[in-house]
Amino acid sequence: MRNQAANSGPHILPLRIYLGVAGALLLLTAITIMVAREDFGSWNLVVALLIAATKATLVALFFMHLKYDNRIYSVIFVGAILFLGIFITFTMLDTLNRGDLNPLTKMPIKKYAAIYESNGRPIPVNERIYDVSGRIVSTDFFLNNGYGPIKKEFLIDPINDELVSKGATIFNKTCYRCHRLDERFTGPPLRGVTAYRSPAFIMNMILNPEENIRRHAGVRALQKQYYTVMTNQDLSIDEARAVLEYLRSANERHGE
Ligand code: HEC
Repeated sequence: MRNQAANSGPHILPLRIYLGVAGALLLLTAITIMVAREDFGSWNLVVALLIAATKATLVALFFMHLKYDNRIYSVIFVGAILFLGIFITFTMLDTLNRGDLNPLTKMPIKKYAAIYESNGRPIPVNERIYDVSGRIVSTDFFLNNGYGPIKKEFLIDPINDELVSKGATIFNKTCYRCHRLDERFTGPPLRGVTAYRSPAFIMNMILNPEENIRRHAGVRALQKQYYTVMTNQDLSIDEARAVLEYLRSANERHGE
């Protein structure tokens, strides 16, 4: 058998090795599809990357002849992959835990708004005052519900899926330009907003942002943290109600 270095001519492998590797790649593809149907939580990416890396290794070793090439190529190749892995791992340490930073997104939906301090921060639950029916004593209607066409606090029913999908469409068309559910964007993240803002507040904010930014202590404080102000999207009351339903469902179904 010749045992020659890479640069001295082509190296021809027997056909059965190519077929074997091709078979292994097909099998791994099938496994990829199978595991994609399972949910491993934050391990999803790890499992997917492991299978993909195995396939890439097979291609590099046999189809690209790394196995029969000068060892220095293997060292460079493995080194590059190793550093890529390190970069991805450290990035993942951040991205996997981002949701944990906002404890509000984990809270259940409140029917009534929290009471705000003048700095815009909700007063912690255990410091709030409730009346006999368990409702937060509202010291100020406008502080709890904002300024706008919705003049009465209202309780809302179980989530209406039809409204949710209507609201999702409107949200993606108009609000998504500035809001994401889970991360700060041009505006604040909105998953969990139903846990600390009342339904009336959210609708008033959608229908009448200008006045709330000007007059509402909480929104004014929030505004200071953003470079842009929220603009009026000219939605009807029904459309705003649908968006509210979408935000409620986004909160309730978090972590499912
Ligand atoms: C032009 C960008 C922009 C658009 C479009 C926009 N928003 Fe906003 N939104 C903001 C900003 C910025 C804030 C923070 C307050 C401020 O600075 O005006 C905000 C604040 C809010 C708040 C208050 C959040 C809180 O914690 O009290 C809600 C609720 C909200 N937006 C919902 C919506 C919905 C629903 C839509 C779509 C109908 C929408 N926004 C469209 C930029 C936008």
